[in-house]
This record gives sequence, C-alpha cells and structure tokens, in this order.
Amino acid sequence: MASLTVRKLDEALKASLRLRAARAGRSVEDEVRMILREAAETEAPAKALPGPARNTPAQLHRTRTHSATELPRVTLIIGGGIAAYKALDLIRRLKERGIHVRCVMTRAAQQFVTPLTAGALADERCYTDLFDAQSEFDAGHIRLARDTDLIIVAPATADLMAKMAQGQADDLATAILLATNRPVLVAPAMNPLMWANAATKRNVAQLARDGVSFIGPNSGEMAEANEAGVGRMSEPTEIAVAAEAMLRPPQTGPLAGKKILITAGPTHEPIDPVRYIANRSSGKQGFAIAASAAETGAEVTLISGPVDLDDPAGVRVIRVESARDMLAQVERALPVDIAIFAAAVADWRVANAGAQKIKKTAGGMPQLALVENPDILATISKLKQNRPQLVIGFAAETQNLIENATSKLKRKGCDWIVANDVSPASGVMGGDRNTVHVLTLDKSDIAVDSWPVMTKEEVADALVAKIAETIA
Ligand code: CTP
Repeated sequence: MASLTVRKLDEALKASLRLRAARAGRSVEDEVRMILREAAETEAPAKALPGPARNTPAQLHRTRTHSATELPRVTLIIGGGIAAYKALDLIRRLKERGIHVRCVMTRAAQQFVTPLTAGALADERCYTDLFDAQSEFDAGHIRLARDTDLIIVAPATADLMAKMAQGQADDLATAILLATNRPVLVAPAMNPLMWANAATKRNVAQLARDGVSFIGPNSGEMAEANEAGVGRMSEPTEIAVAAEAMLRPPQTGPLAGKKILITAGPTHEPIDPVRYIANRSSGKQGFAIAASAAETGAEVTLISGPVDLDDPAGVRVIRVESARDMLAQVERALPVDIAIFAAAVADWRVANAGAQKIKKTAGGMPQLALVENPDILATISKLKQNRPQLVIGFAAETQNLIENATSKLKRKGCDWIVANDVSPASGVMGGDRNTVHVLTLDKSDIAVDSWPVMTKEEVADALVAKIAETIA
C-alpha cells in the first residue's frame, strides 16, 4: 500500500482536512483514512471534502437544508459547578436553533458531567486536555479558539472567571479563552456570597471592560440546602437566545444599534410558598412590542413576569416573579437607549411573606400587612445617570383615562404614556385587541394621539414606528 504524508498536501487542503477532522473529533490521519474508506465503499468519485458524519435524525434532516460549514458555530466551555448539568441541556437548545456546538470541559466540570455525555449530545467529541496528542499536534487550542463564531462559558465559576480576568492559561479552557479573537458570552453560576464578593465583582468588571458579554446570574434557590439569592446560572433557553442574538449578523433597520428594554406581564407577590398576589395581565402587549422592536433591528431585552407566552424571536427574555426581582433585572440591563414599561406591576406586596404555608386556625383570618412595591417606571425615569433617552410608561385605567394618564406622566417623570382602558367591558386585559392613546411630553406640553382599536401586534408596530421616527 502506498503511504500518504499529510504534510505534503497543499495548505488549503490541509486546512480543510484539519477542520473536518476537528469537527469529527479525529486526528487528521484518521480522517484521511475515513475519507478513503468512504470513497472505497461508495465508489464515488472524490469531491470537495464533505462535512463530518452525522447520526441523529435531526442532524440528518438538517444536512438536507444546510451544509455543516453554513451553521453558526459555538464552542461551549463547561466549567466545574453543579450547574454543569444544565450545560447539557444548553447543547440541545443551541442545536435546535441550528447552531453547531463543540464542547470543552474543565477538569472540575468532569466531576459533575462526563465528556462522553457532552460529546454524544454535541455529535462531536468533547475536548478536555491542553496536551491532547490527538488535537494538539497542530496547536489544537489555537484552532479551537478560532474555528468558532462564539465562545460560551457555562457555567462560569468564580474561579474560572478569576483566571479569565487574569489571563491565565494553564488548561485547555483558559488557553482557548486567552487565544480567541471571537466574542465570548459568560453565564456565571455560583453561591450568592461568592457572586457578591468584592473579588468576583472586580473580575466581572474587568471582563466586561475586556469586552466579554454576560448573561445572568439569576436569583433563586441554590443547590445548597437553605441557600437562595443571586447566583443561579441563567436557564439554557435564556443563554441560547442570547447566543443567537450575538451570532446574528449586524442588524439593519430603523432601530439598528439601539438597545431597548421592555417590561411585560404581571408580577407575583408571594404571600407564602404556595400563594401569591397577582393581576390579570397576559403580557401580550409587551411581548408584541418586543417582537416588533426586534424586527426593526434593535437589541431587545424583555423582562417579564409570569406569563404563558413563548420568547419572541431574536429577543433576550428574562423571566422574573416579583416587582423587586423585576426592578433588579431592569437595573442590570441598563444602559439602554429606550425603555418601555408595559408590565402590570403589583403595587403592593405582603410585608412578611411566610416561609411556611399559612394554615387555617381557630383564631380566625390571617391579617396580611401590605407594603408598597418600588415603582420601576418612576425609578428609571428619575435616574440622574444612565436614564434612557426615551422612557415610555403605560397607564392602565378603568375611568377618566386621559386625565389619569396625564397626571401619571407628570408624576412618574417619563416621556410618553400609552394609556389604555382596561375596564372589564373593554376586554383588553387578556384579550387580543387594544385601544390606546399616546401622550407625549414636549417640554411642558402634552400632546394626545388617539389610535383606533387595533390588535396588540398592530399597536406594537405603530408604537415602534413612532419611536423610530422620534429617535432617528
Ligand atoms: N409601574 C412600575 N412599577 C410599579 C407600578 C407601575 O413600573 N410598581 C409602571 C407600569 O409598568 C406602567 C406605569 O407604571 O408603565 C403605570 O402603571 P399603572 O399600574 O397604570 O399605575 P400605578 O402607578 O400602579 O398607579 P395606579 O395603580 O394608582 O393607577
């Protein structure tokens, strides 16, 4: 048998071979053997190098419409935290969005999930070692750092972020992060005290200055018993949507390059672990505005209370429960150019929400003391620093619509108010249609623009068009 020396091939063919080998998780020599075997089996004439073999029905389906090289590519670096199990779901969420995923695991991550599982889900071997004989003979970490459109670090532990901030490169994950010139999205996950620690804050600030993007962490229960707070890794779908937005080619459209923040839905204010105060908001209007804004090229963050609606395409959605969670996420999303507060935020919460279910007792009814929630719209409208250029509130009224909306506009300090009649007869709450009046403040003059009854999508399109006209 004739022997073949890969080094003697021309550079373009070598690069193509390396790419194909890396995608299949094989050495270049093995890949050549595979190509020869396939050629011999099918007796097909040699063509341009095809993509790696794919096995799952979804992949087989996908290869009919996309070639492997057309798929956007993500390198997912899985750090060593309990949230590593969620990274496995993230692989699926990315793949269902047509994104090719290649996994890298730190040594600590392998204490939580195995490279075999990540490799099986990604359809490509998972990389773990800096000095891997199979991939490092041609500086594999440099290839892994560059042969991708985006690097996601999920979960990003406090330790991994500290190494990134320092520029350390003593394992494959950190070497890739140091060698890359691609965008990096980090999803931190750690105990709330570690997240709040001054050292972590310094590292996060440094990484943000270095151009790293962050998603999360969210607040909620920790894996550790009786621990809760900010530190939970964002949900896989949230990370996948953020990744999708970062992979999208630069947007064109009237609001391209603008950052828009939108609140939507009701808030749930806990009474005890099983009961809450809520309202009838469906979130439909806020979601429709988010979808419409994303279509005009804006970078949209939608912060929503509990609703039964799917994420609008191309929108980063952050789900929250209470008014205080919503305010915290709004503040984290700043600075933005435009903020639209369509949420029906509960005005009050229970002063001392019980940790245990309130039981019926012979002593009679429980007395619930209420305290006022923060007013998110007023807080953001009155900011001295980071106030969005345009702040829009909603006024849900059941009587004296224009009068009440006018006083709300003045009281809250926003620029526009979208006033709507939410009396039961209007069918607006939970319904598909809306009749709105847009009050705009120009110096001390208030103009009222009354629109005919429209679907919530039409209201959204009209509002976004009015914003584009004003901002342009
Ligand atoms: N809003 C807010 N935070 C709150 C209450 C309201 O951000 N705690 C915002 C809403 O998203 C909306 C606007 O303020 O954009 C008006 O909300 P609305 O419920 O109509 O007004 P309230 O301020 O609650 O006044 P009232 O209940 O007395 O009508």
